[in-house]
Amino acid sequence: MNLTPELEKALNDQLGKEFFASYSYLSMAAYFDGTAWDGFGSWMTLQSDEERAHAMKFYTYILDRGGKVKLPEIQAPRIDFKDPLDVFKTSLSQEKDVTKSISNLYKLALESADFATVSFLQWFVDEQVEEEKNVSDMIDKLERAGSNPENLLLLDNYAGKRSAEPAE
Ligand SMILES: [Fe+2]
Ligand SMILES: [Fe+2]
Repeated sequence: MNLTPELEKALNDQLGKEFFASYSYLSMAAYFDGTAWDGFGSWMTLQSDEERAHAMKFYTYILDRGGKVKLPEIQAPRIDFKDPLDVFKTSLSQEKDVTKSISNLYKLALESADFATVSFLQWFVDEQVEEEKNVSDMIDKLERAGSNPENLLLLDNYAGKRSAEPAE
């Protein structure tokens, strides 16, 4: 069964959104790396890499289903932030947008009775729970740290200990 044109377009749109997320996290990494928040910078670089890997899952899936990959235009991400909390709050709102678009895509796959796509998307549904949780946890920690420089340095150090997830 071929992808319907509507589903093929929606999968390509999601591929673009994952690349935008990767781009946006790279911009956040640049903000941190430029202000000597090395730990947060490395956290964001890893996150950017993960989002690229998400995009590539869509790339492979579209091709596996005999569809055409049409890379959409990617908008420029935000480049200025107030402080680490501002960055992570921006990240959470982006992740919530992605969760919404994955849900819409899932709904479309169900309505199209394309169960292979439903199954493919299940991983992303679960991943979004994890992504929102990770970012929310960091926001909680940053709020607790407040503007205390020692607390913030400890958190920067903690963020720098994050290691890359094994590819699936
Ligand atoms: Fe993603
Ligand atoms: Fe994400």
